[in-house]
Amino acid sequence: MARWFGAAAAALAALVMTLSGSMADEKGPAAKDVMKAVAGKTGFCAKCAGAVKAANWAEAQDYAKKMADCGVALTKAPCPKGDAKSWETLTKRFCEQTAAVNKAAQAKDGEAFGAALKTFTGSCKTCHDAHKK
Ligand code: HEC
Repeated sequence: MARWFGAAAAALAALVMTLSGSMADEKGPAAKDVMKAVAGKTGFCAKCAGAVKAANWAEAQDYAKKMADCGVALTKAPCPKGDAKSWETLTKRFCEQTAAVNKAAQAKDGEAFGAALKTFTGSCKTCHDAHKK
């Protein structure tokens, strides 16, 4: 368990480092790894929202950029379950939504940030219902 976790953490670190570049291999990252990086209490999304709440824009911008990178990464992740065409559509949407969050953070626009985040967090279930194992 501990070893598995270590390996996952290392994979995640590698993922985060390669996301923004074109270094991700052709197969792309696993959807699961992208989800782990973005979601949860310690994910980029929560950290980014927390930083905005604290009016720490520099930190928020850093995490928002990482979210956008994850958005790009998910479009390269192989479809784990369900219809491939739907996966393409929904991952593209996920990518656009993380980009919108990032754009608002870079502009230090709290209102736009809140709206973008709401759209983003409202889209989780549709994709999970269709593609989560
Ligand atoms: C475009 C599709 C898509 C969207 C949108 C999406 N997810 Fe996921 N998510 C997945 C898939 C697919 C899995 C299952 C990956 C697997 O197990 O192979 C998953 C798994 C997860 C997991 C479990 C990760 C683990 O440790 O196994 C969490 C947590 C999660 N998603 C959170 C979220 C949250 C929060 C959102 C919305 C902000 C979201 N997801 C939006 C596709 C998506």
